Amino acid sequence: MIKLGVNIDHIAVLREARKINDPDPVEALGIVKRAGADQITIHLREDRRHIHDEDARRIVELSPLPVNMECSIDEDIVDIVCRLKPHRATLVPERREEVTTEGGLDIFKYEERTLAAIEKLHAHEIEVSLFIDPDLEIISRSDALGADWVELHTGSYANIYAMLHSNLPHSHHSIESLELPRHTLRTKLDESVETLKGAADHAASLGLEVAAGHGLNYQNVHAIVDIEAIGELNIGQSIVARSVFTGLEEAVREMLKLLRR
Ligand code: PXP
Repeated sequence: MIKLGVNIDHIAVLREARKINDPDPVEALGIVKRAGADQITIHLREDRRHIHDEDARRIVELSPLPVNMECSIDEDIVDIVCRLKPHRATLVPERREEVTTEGGLDIFKYEERTLAAIEKLHAHEIEVSLFIDPDLEIISRSDALGADWVELHTGSYANIYAMLHSNLPHSHHSIESLELPRHTLRTKLDESVETLKGAADHAASLGLEVAAGHGLNYQNVHAIVDIEAIGELNIGQSIVARSVFTGLEEAVREMLKLLRR
Protein backbone atom coordinates (compact mmCIF):
# COMPACT_ATOMS: atom_id res chain seq x y z
CA MET A 1 0.00 0.00 0.00
CA ILE A 2 1.39 3.38 -0.99
CA LYS A 3 2.31 5.57 2.01
CA LEU A 4 1.59 9.24 2.50
CA GLY A 5 3.97 11.80 3.96
CA VAL A 6 2.21 15.09 4.66
CA ASN A 7 4.39 18.13 4.17
CA ILE A 8 3.31 20.65 6.81
CA ASP A 9 5.58 23.56 5.78
CA HIS A 10 2.62 25.49 4.44
CA ILE A 11 1.13 25.77 7.91
CA ALA A 12 4.27 27.67 8.87
CA VAL A 13 3.96 29.73 5.66
CA LEU A 14 0.61 31.01 6.95
CA ARG A 15 2.11 31.81 10.33
CA GLU A 16 5.01 33.67 8.73
CA ALA A 17 2.57 35.88 6.83
CA ARG A 18 1.98 37.60 10.20
CA LYS A 19 5.22 36.66 11.99
CA ILE A 20 3.29 35.49 15.02
CA ASN A 21 2.96 32.03 16.57
CA ASP A 22 -0.29 30.89 15.02
CA PRO A 23 -0.99 28.47 13.33
CA ASP A 24 1.60 26.23 14.96
CA PRO A 25 2.75 23.35 12.69
CA VAL A 26 3.21 21.20 15.81
CA GLU A 27 -0.59 21.15 16.19
CA ALA A 28 -0.78 19.31 12.87
CA LEU A 29 1.16 16.28 14.11
CA GLY A 30 -1.63 14.50 15.98
CA ILE A 31 -4.22 15.44 13.36
CA VAL A 32 -2.17 14.01 10.49
CA LYS A 33 -1.67 10.78 12.42
CA ARG A 34 -5.36 10.55 13.36
CA ALA A 35 -6.26 10.94 9.69
CA GLY A 36 -4.17 7.86 8.91
CA ALA A 37 -1.10 9.30 7.14
CA ASP A 38 2.27 7.63 7.58
CA GLN A 39 4.83 10.39 7.86
CA ILE A 40 5.42 14.06 8.62
CA THR A 41 7.59 15.88 6.11
CA ILE A 42 9.20 19.28 6.71
CA HIS A 43 11.80 21.35 4.90
CA LEU A 44 14.31 23.31 6.96
CA ARG A 45 15.28 25.86 4.32
CA GLU A 46 18.53 27.83 4.52
CA ASP A 47 16.52 31.09 4.55
CA ARG A 48 14.10 29.70 7.22
CA ARG A 49 11.20 31.17 5.26
CA HIS A 50 8.68 28.84 6.91
CA ILE A 51 9.94 26.10 9.26
CA HIS A 52 12.37 27.47 11.87
CA ASP A 53 14.99 25.53 13.85
CA GLU A 54 12.75 25.52 16.92
CA ASP A 55 9.82 24.13 14.86
CA ALA A 56 12.07 21.38 13.52
CA ARG A 57 13.29 20.53 17.01
CA ARG A 58 9.77 20.32 18.45
CA ILE A 59 8.41 18.41 15.45
CA VAL A 60 11.12 15.73 15.65
CA GLU A 61 10.68 15.49 19.42
CA LEU A 62 6.89 15.39 19.47
CA SER A 63 5.84 13.70 16.22
CA PRO A 64 3.98 10.43 16.69
CA LEU A 65 4.90 9.61 13.07
CA PRO A 66 8.36 9.26 11.49
CA VAL A 67 9.74 12.63 10.38
CA ASN A 68 11.26 13.11 6.94
CA MET A 69 13.32 16.29 6.96
CA GLU A 70 14.11 17.86 3.61
CA CYS A 71 17.32 19.86 3.56
CA SER A 72 20.01 21.16 1.25
CA ILE A 73 23.52 19.69 1.15
CA ASP A 74 24.84 22.77 2.96
CA GLU A 75 27.14 21.57 5.79
CA ASP A 76 25.59 23.75 8.49
CA ILE A 77 22.09 22.52 7.66
CA VAL A 78 23.21 18.88 7.50
CA ASP A 79 24.83 19.33 10.93
CA ILE A 80 21.53 20.60 12.35
CA VAL A 81 19.70 17.62 10.88
CA CYS A 82 22.30 15.27 12.37
CA ARG A 83 21.72 16.82 15.80
CA LEU A 84 17.93 16.60 15.51
CA LYS A 85 17.98 13.00 14.26
CA PRO A 86 14.78 12.73 12.22
CA HIS A 87 13.94 9.33 10.81
CA ARG A 88 14.99 10.37 7.30
CA ALA A 89 16.73 13.25 5.56
CA THR A 90 15.81 14.07 1.98
CA LEU A 91 18.53 16.05 0.23
CA VAL A 92 17.04 18.66 -2.08
CA PRO A 93 18.46 21.45 -4.23
CA GLU A 94 17.86 24.94 -2.93
CA ARG A 95 17.96 28.31 -4.59
CA ARG A 96 17.09 31.29 -2.44
CA GLU A 97 15.05 33.08 -5.09
CA GLU A 98 12.83 30.11 -5.96
CA VAL A 99 9.17 29.99 -4.88
CA THR A 100 9.50 26.26 -4.19
CA THR A 101 11.98 23.48 -4.96
CA GLU A 102 12.47 23.46 -8.73
CA GLY A 103 14.09 20.43 -10.32
CA GLY A 104 15.95 17.61 -8.64
CA LEU A 105 19.33 17.64 -6.91
CA ASP A 106 22.22 17.75 -9.42
CA ILE A 107 24.24 14.90 -7.97
CA PHE A 108 26.75 15.01 -10.82
CA LYS A 109 27.65 18.66 -10.25
CA TYR A 110 27.58 18.30 -6.45
CA GLU A 111 28.76 14.71 -6.16
CA GLU A 112 31.39 15.26 -3.45
CA ARG A 113 29.12 17.37 -1.26
CA THR A 114 26.24 14.94 -1.72
CA LEU A 115 28.42 12.01 -0.76
CA ALA A 116 29.75 13.87 2.30
CA ALA A 117 26.18 14.66 3.39
CA ILE A 118 25.05 11.05 2.91
CA GLU A 119 27.99 9.70 4.90
CA LYS A 120 27.51 12.15 7.75
CA LEU A 121 23.76 11.43 7.97
CA HIS A 122 24.39 7.69 7.89
CA ALA A 123 26.96 8.06 10.67
CA HIS A 124 24.10 9.57 12.72
CA GLU A 125 21.82 6.65 11.81
CA ILE A 126 19.54 8.78 9.64
CA GLU A 127 18.32 7.20 6.42
CA VAL A 128 18.92 9.28 3.31
CA SER A 129 16.74 10.05 0.33
CA LEU A 130 17.79 12.07 -2.71
CA PHE A 131 15.19 14.25 -4.41
CA ILE A 132 16.07 13.78 -8.06
CA ASP A 133 14.69 14.08 -11.55
CA PRO A 134 13.33 10.78 -12.94
CA ASP A 135 16.46 9.96 -14.93
CA LEU A 136 18.04 6.49 -15.12
CA GLU A 137 21.64 7.70 -14.90
CA ILE A 138 20.91 9.89 -11.89
CA ILE A 139 19.19 6.96 -10.20
CA SER A 140 22.14 4.63 -10.80
CA ARG A 141 24.49 7.26 -9.39
CA SER A 142 22.23 7.80 -6.36
CA ASP A 143 22.52 4.09 -5.66
CA ALA A 144 26.31 4.17 -6.10
CA LEU A 145 26.55 7.08 -3.65
CA GLY A 146 24.79 4.99 -1.01
CA ALA A 147 21.33 6.58 -0.90
CA ASP A 148 18.63 4.47 0.76
CA TRP A 149 15.76 6.19 -1.05
CA VAL A 150 15.19 8.27 -4.11
CA GLU A 151 12.28 10.69 -4.28
CA LEU A 152 11.30 11.25 -7.89
CA HIS A 153 10.43 14.84 -8.79
CA THR A 154 6.89 14.90 -10.18
CA GLY A 155 6.90 18.64 -10.92
CA SER A 156 7.18 18.21 -14.67
CA TYR A 157 4.20 15.80 -14.73
CA ALA A 158 2.19 18.18 -12.50
CA ASN A 159 2.99 21.18 -14.69
CA ILE A 160 1.90 19.43 -17.88
CA TYR A 161 -1.26 18.19 -16.12
CA ALA A 162 -2.08 21.74 -15.05
CA MET A 163 -1.46 23.11 -18.55
CA LEU A 164 -3.83 20.53 -19.95
CA HIS A 165 -6.59 20.89 -17.38
CA SER A 166 -6.56 24.43 -16.03
CA ASN A 167 -7.66 27.63 -17.67
CA LEU A 168 -4.62 29.51 -16.44
CA PRO A 169 -2.35 30.76 -19.21
CA HIS A 170 0.52 28.33 -19.77
CA SER A 171 2.98 31.01 -18.78
CA HIS A 172 1.84 30.48 -15.14
CA HIS A 173 3.51 27.08 -15.19
CA SER A 174 7.24 27.13 -14.85
CA ILE A 175 8.41 24.43 -17.26
CA GLU A 176 6.99 25.50 -20.61
CA SER A 177 5.72 28.89 -21.48
CA LEU A 178 4.68 28.08 -25.04
CA GLU A 179 1.01 27.57 -25.79
CA LEU A 180 0.94 23.95 -26.93
CA PRO A 181 -1.99 22.24 -28.65
CA ARG A 182 -3.98 19.89 -26.44
CA HIS A 183 -2.99 16.70 -28.26
CA THR A 184 0.70 17.61 -27.82
CA LEU A 185 0.10 18.18 -24.11
CA ARG A 186 -1.66 14.83 -23.85
CA THR A 187 1.30 13.08 -25.47
CA LYS A 188 3.71 14.94 -23.17
CA LEU A 189 1.63 13.97 -20.14
CA ASP A 190 1.70 10.28 -21.14
CA GLU A 191 5.44 10.52 -21.74
CA SER A 192 6.03 12.09 -18.33
CA VAL A 193 4.14 9.24 -16.64
CA GLU A 194 6.15 6.67 -18.65
CA THR A 195 9.37 8.41 -17.62
CA LEU A 196 8.36 8.29 -13.95
CA LYS A 197 7.38 4.64 -14.26
CA GLY A 198 10.67 3.70 -15.95
CA ALA A 199 12.60 5.61 -13.32
CA ALA A 200 10.69 3.99 -10.43
CA ASP A 201 11.18 0.49 -11.89
CA HIS A 202 14.89 1.12 -12.37
CA ALA A 203 15.31 2.41 -8.82
CA ALA A 204 13.40 -0.55 -7.37
CA SER A 205 15.49 -3.00 -9.44
CA LEU A 206 18.61 -1.56 -7.77
CA GLY A 207 17.06 -2.13 -4.34
CA LEU A 208 16.33 1.54 -3.65
CA GLU A 209 13.15 2.57 -1.85
CA VAL A 210 11.12 4.86 -4.10
CA ALA A 211 9.12 7.95 -3.15
CA ALA A 212 7.72 10.70 -5.33
CA GLY A 213 6.42 14.19 -4.83
CA HIS A 214 6.01 17.81 -5.81
CA GLY A 215 2.93 19.43 -7.25
CA LEU A 216 0.70 16.42 -6.60
CA ASN A 217 -2.95 17.17 -5.85
CA TYR A 218 -6.39 15.58 -5.65
CA GLN A 219 -6.83 15.75 -9.43
CA ASN A 220 -3.45 14.58 -10.73
CA VAL A 221 -2.33 12.01 -8.15
CA HIS A 222 -4.09 8.99 -9.74
CA ALA A 223 -1.49 8.29 -12.45
CA ILE A 224 1.32 8.36 -9.90
CA VAL A 225 -0.54 6.06 -7.50
CA ASP A 226 -0.80 3.56 -10.36
CA ILE A 227 3.00 3.25 -10.60
CA GLU A 228 3.59 0.12 -8.57
CA ALA A 229 7.24 0.68 -7.73
CA ILE A 230 6.47 3.97 -5.96
CA GLY A 231 6.00 3.23 -2.28
CA GLU A 232 5.42 6.71 -0.86
CA LEU A 233 4.20 10.15 -1.83
CA ASN A 234 5.07 13.39 -0.09
CA ILE A 235 2.34 15.97 -0.58
CA GLY A 236 2.01 19.41 0.98
CA GLN A 237 0.55 22.39 -0.81
CA SER A 238 -2.66 20.81 -2.09
CA ILE A 239 -3.52 19.18 1.26
CA VAL A 240 -2.91 22.32 3.32
CA ALA A 241 -4.79 24.42 0.74
CA ARG A 242 -7.79 22.06 0.97
CA SER A 243 -7.63 22.05 4.76
CA VAL A 244 -8.64 25.74 4.80
CA PHE A 245 -12.10 24.61 3.69
CA THR A 246 -12.41 21.11 5.13
CA GLY A 247 -10.08 21.02 8.10
CA LEU A 248 -6.72 19.23 8.00
CA GLU A 249 -7.95 15.83 9.12
CA GLU A 250 -10.56 15.65 6.36
CA ALA A 251 -8.11 16.96 3.75
CA VAL A 252 -5.62 14.21 4.64
CA ARG A 253 -8.37 11.56 4.67
CA GLU A 254 -9.54 12.63 1.21
CA MET A 255 -6.03 12.28 -0.16
CA LEU A 256 -5.61 8.89 1.50
CA LYS A 257 -8.82 7.69 -0.16
CA LEU A 258 -7.25 8.45 -3.54
CA LEU A 259 -4.06 6.63 -2.58
CA ARG A 260 -5.75 3.54 -1.18
CA ARG A 261 -8.64 2.99 -3.53
N1 PXP B 1 8.85 16.45 -1.85
C1 PXP B 1 9.87 17.35 -1.85
C2 PXP B 1 11.26 16.83 -1.87
C3 PXP B 1 9.61 18.73 -1.83
O1 PXP B 1 10.65 19.60 -1.85
C4 PXP B 1 8.28 19.18 -1.77
C5 PXP B 1 8.00 20.65 -1.70
O2 PXP B 1 8.43 21.14 -0.48
C6 PXP B 1 7.26 18.22 -1.74
C7 PXP B 1 7.57 16.86 -1.80
C8 PXP B 1 5.82 18.60 -1.63
O3 PXP B 1 5.43 19.36 -2.73
P1 PXP B 1 4.01 20.05 -2.76
O4 PXP B 1 3.97 21.05 -1.66
O5 PXP B 1 3.96 20.66 -4.12
O6 PXP B 1 2.99 18.96 -2.56
